[in-house]
Amino acid sequence: MKGNEKVVKSLNAALSMELGAVLQYLHHHWTGEGIESQTILPIFKQIALDEMRHAGLIAERINFLEGDPTLSPSKIRKYGDLIQMMKDDLSGEYDAINYYKKVIKLCGEVGDSTTRLMMEQILSDEEHHADIWETTLAKNKGTKP
Ligand SMILES: [Fe+2]
Ligand SMILES: [Fe+2]
Repeated sequence: MKGNEKVVKSLNAALSMELGAVLQYLHHHWTGEGIESQTILPIFKQIALDEMRHAGLIAERINFLEGDPTLSPSKIRKYGDLIQMMKDDLSGEYDAINYYKKVIKLCGEVGDSTTRLMMEQILSDEEHHADIWETTLAKNKGTKP
């Protein structure tokens, strides 16, 4: 497989994760209930919008590299109480962080600095998202991930 094809393949896997994240965060925003929901539900929506922006950036890059942007979302975890939702979202952010680090490494190896820079910026957003859930979950005693 040529360098470009490898990058397109990994970007499509990343796009699938972003689409799954958009849908999961939206579903959590629509259905989350509980004592903290006034604070938490707007965060779900805000992050869904971040993930949508990521999906757009990645899809445009795939298109530029002459690949076909996927429309298949990754696995979506949509049930549970608010705490479970936040734990599932945190674990999705960790998955993205781990995978995007690999994509960044691959881009370095094949010399695609444009994609690498884009993925580094997206990675920094995912680290911020993970931090939001780590902090919020830590406030709920005995419910640390
Ligand atoms: Fe994202
Ligand atoms: Fe994220």
